[in-house]
Amino acid sequence: SAYTLTVSPDATGPIVDDTMYGVFYEDINRAADGGLYAELVQNRSFEYDPADNDDYVPLTSWEPTASGGATGTAEVVDDDGRLNERNRRYLRLQSDAHGDPQARFGVTNTGYNTGIAVEEGARYAFSAWARTDQEAGTPLTATLRDPSGKALAEPLELTVRGDGWAKYSGVLTATAASTTARLEAAAGDTGTLGLDEVSLFPEDTFKGRPNGMRRDLAEKIAALKPGFLRFPGGCLVNTGSHEAYEAPDWPRRRSYQWKDTVGPVEQRATNANFWGYNQSYGLGYFEYFQFAEDIGAMPLPVVPALVTGCGENQATDDPELLRRHVQDTLDLIEFANGPATSAWGAKRAEMGHPEPFGLTHIGVGNEENLPDEFMARFTEFRDAIKAHHPEMTVISNSGPDDSGPTFERAWELNRQHAVDMVDEHYYNDPQWFLDNNHRYDTYDRNGPKVFLGEYASKDDRWGNSLAEAAYMTGLERNADVVEMASYAPLLANEDYVQWRPDMIWFDNHRSWGSTSYETQKLFMNNVGDRVLPSAATESPVFRQVVTRDDATGELIVKVVNAQSAPAPTTVELGREVAPAARVTTLRGDPAAVNTPDSQPIRPVEATFDGAAATFTYTFPPNSVTFLRIRPT
Ligand code: AHR
Repeated sequence: SAYTLTVSPDATGPIVDDTMYGVFYEDINRAADGGLYAELVQNRSFEYDPADNDDYVPLTSWEPTASGGATGTAEVVDDDGRLNERNRRYLRLQSDAHGDPQARFGVTNTGYNTGIAVEEGARYAFSAWARTDQEAGTPLTATLRDPSGKALAEPLELTVRGDGWAKYSGVLTATAASTTARLEAAAGDTGTLGLDEVSLFPEDTFKGRPNGMRRDLAEKIAALKPGFLRFPGGCLVNTGSHEAYEAPDWPRRRSYQWKDTVGPVEQRATNANFWGYNQSYGLGYFEYFQFAEDIGAMPLPVVPALVTGCGENQATDDPELLRRHVQDTLDLIEFANGPATSAWGAKRAEMGHPEPFGLTHIGVGNEENLPDEFMARFTEFRDAIKAHHPEMTVISNSGPDDSGPTFERAWELNRQHAVDMVDEHYYNDPQWFLDNNHRYDTYDRNGPKVFLGEYASKDDRWGNSLAEAAYMTGLERNADVVEMASYAPLLANEDYVQWRPDMIWFDNHRSWGSTSYETQKLFMNNVGDRVLPSAATESPVFRQVVTRDDATGELIVKVVNAQSAPAPTTVELGREVAPAARVTTLRGDPAAVNTPDSQPIRPVEATFDGAAATFTYTFPPNSVTFLRIRPT
């Protein structure tokens, strides 16, 4: 054989925690609205604004529509008649049906991507907040149509009554499938109708939850079996955090404050997302905690540290601003873990989860470029958290680079302040990942632990995923230092991309995993509990790690052969094993890309009957192979 792989018979390697591999979720690439958040209406509360994006107007994705000869005007206003102080703008429809009871004037929403995707026979929950100046009430008709105006559902007939805001709801059942449907909400008679928070949700969300998640996307994330869910970003979290707590044009602000994202959805603000689009907060902290629980992942929120990174590099010296953010962080811990009788625990209970969420880890800051300024503020957060919750793991970071003076200084400070865990981020070429397999071999075992919170090889081809997989063998061999790792980013809507590569792609009706999704899934579903020390022929393109699963006693031999030649290998396990092993292989052309129409990189399952204390196995060219070998 050209290669040898020798496993030590003693189980003395590092313990691998169940939380070793997880996902990094950021609301980037429209991950939430138009993505994981199952809401089908875009700009449902008419809050889009040029401050979010130059192309926006308050009626973005809405068009006025009339039928039966009705006439009218549709205007977005912000006046004393508003729904509430956070959801300030609403739609004022002035309609005239000219005496025809069937005539309607209203607005039509075009959804995301090519429109609203509906399935024949599926039920969709429509709701809207409305008020009318007509004493006798105003008819409100909701329906689905295709772009030519053809009905795609039996219309839902509601009557709005009274000049105070109330919620009106009902169900639309799609009579045909479409990926270009539009939602129409239109008034009858003559008069003025106020409309806000116009919403359409599939009833079939992940776990059937109201205000829930798009099922195919949530299921793809769940299928990874992630050990943790880091949320809600990224640059999204720390940018803008040096600005005033209450921005002058409140409630429109750029800093992400978790309190804006909880409570009834119609009372949540919308935000000018750092990535250049309006963000509804319909997916908020409660939903993220609940999703983490639903998929068995440890929740890992990240809060701003008042020093910004991501090109801003601003630090604030305002002690009052710092105090408020530190208090928000303590309140967040109470929201997650406090009893239902505590102030913030009561809010969690009101939202439907009286039991605590069991928060154990929290990140403070993301990629700050000013290590000294960052550490001065990080320690304020950390010390306040530890004073109340000494058991909480508080995660710092090492800035945006994998090395260099800022990185070195950040680590020096992290060590000096005996930080629990340091979040490292890097996006590099495939060769870097092949060459740096031993990066963590020399990290101080007595220093802070590493959370590799973001990494990816910078393209979306199989060759990139092979390099990442090779690198992951090094992470796992060093699981005593690298306690957690997540590829980034997680989600991308293919029509609204700010960052690539990404792990899970989608449009309004399809979703597909990238080649890196497949490698991540393979690693996350085959972690094992303890590393068994192993040695192999040293080569940047032939990498291995071996773990043992405590429950089954199986050895999990994980080998990456990142070269175009097969790798015939003598495997020495140093113990007797059952001959029949389960093999999962990912392999293909390094240039291959998974697309919506074709996913050439997919796992192939097989049985290998030749496992033994010593056996030979030929690892295919450009492959990742996991052998699960049972004890005798
Ligand atoms: O993952 C995309 C971005 O990369 C994150 O927002 C940021 O933390 C990093 O720079």
